[in-house]
Amino acid sequence: MQKIKLKQKTSSLAKKYELDYQIANFGERSYPLFYGNDIIQYLGTLLHEYGCGEKILIVSHPKIKRLFESRINKAMKNYSVQWTLFPQGEKHKNLTTMNSLYTACAKANLDKNSVIIALGGGVVQDMANYLAATYLRGIPFVQIPTTLLSQSDIGIGGCAVNHPAGKSLIGQFYQPHLALLDSSIFKTLPQNEISSGIAEIINKVLCLGGYDTKKFEQDLAKMLARDQKTLQSYVRRANTIKLSIIEKDETGRKGSRLLLDWGHTITYALEQHLAYSVSHGWALGIGMHGAATLSSQLGYLSEDQVTHLKKIIKKASLPTKLPANVNILKLIGNMHLEQRTKKGEKKFILLQDFGKAFVSHPIGFDHILACLNKINS
Ligand SMILES: NC(=O)c1ccc[n+]([C@@H]2O[C@H](COP(=O)([O-])OP(=O)(O)OC[C@H]3O[C@@H](n4cnc5c(N)ncnc54)[C@H](O)[C@@H]3O)[C@@H](O)[C@H]2O)c1
Ligand SMILES: [Zn+2]
Repeated sequence: MQKIKLKQKTSSLAKKYELDYQIANFGERSYPLFYGNDIIQYLGTLLHEYGCGEKILIVSHPKIKRLFESRINKAMKNYSVQWTLFPQGEKHKNLTTMNSLYTACAKANLDKNSVIIALGGGVVQDMANYLAATYLRGIPFVQIPTTLLSQSDIGIGGCAVNHPAGKSLIGQFYQPHLALLDSSIFKTLPQNEISSGIAEIINKVLCLGGYDTKKFEQDLAKMLARDQKTLQSYVRRANTIKLSIIEKDETGRKGSRLLLDWGHTITYALEQHLAYSVSHGWALGIGMHGAATLSSQLGYLSEDQVTHLKKIIKKASLPTKLPANVNILKLIGNMHLEQRTKKGEKKFILLQDFGKAFVSHPIGFDHILACLNKINS
């Protein structure tokens, strides 16, 4: 759809149904993100308004299907809806599971006008996005992220699945037709998933966006108590920041997209090291503390700023130290293949200040080791 038409249509639909929205600007592949309480009820209407076909395959987990099936059925009366489910957990975000999803697409006779809907957390989002990007070389795709983490980082600008050689090594830059961010999902999430999502909000809104730390600390208590409006406003802020980076450098070739890896270098390595037995947000607490500590050791952030960030991470019930069973040398070995130089040094995303991230010069082993020892002291 042309960008101007998309804006007009989205603005009039948002008015009609009293929804908040954002447009993700990717030229002809621009799409709307809708926000609101219980907006799943508009799913069928929105699919129709944006010209999506009638054959639908929902990719999800068994537990999520149980939570949402009756609401989906009510919203999708005029559609032929089929489901394909795979077990939850990061260890299933791989090409073996993907093969079973391709089989499900073939059995459902999906064609170029069919729609794949991703209903679930980040694992479902990444898997369904890659599936939609590659099945028949691309079919329409709709995102309904059901965790705070996936709403705050909804795979805008691409998806990735894991390979034994590393996390998120295989992926695509494929945009959805639309995204529905329903704030009613916060009710059923376990408390650790609320904390995990707040990790991504701290990452984007506070560290990358430079949002007022005092205000953030005040709102943190409301977020932990699942105040829907506060959570929704921070989800939106996080997505605004992610979009502002990705719209300028969708594929990462210009280099600025790398800033989104802030706090993630240690995080990805740690998740892989612990065989994906911990949540992404849990590992991100440690990853952000590590990257802030490195920023301070190299003379960019003050120690006070690191202490402040550590306090906020802890307040969100997230860890800041590596677990005792981590082998630090192996962990360093796991750090991003793409950021590794020939000498084995690594580039990090560091902070000069909250809101001022930059890509570092290659950093040697000794500095990384000193940083990991410091966060554990
Ligand atoms: N492509 C990207 O840009 C991008 C960005 C951020 C994260 N990710 C990926 O997202 C994944 C992490 O996402 P996640 O934290 O959402 O994990 P997840 O998808 O594993 O979901 C976490 C848990 O919450 C449960 N759950 C989901 N929705 C629920 C609901 N409404 N009520 C109750 N329980 C619910 C799930 O079943 C699961 O057990 C990682 O694989 C990460 O790499 C990708
Ligand atoms: Zn993340």
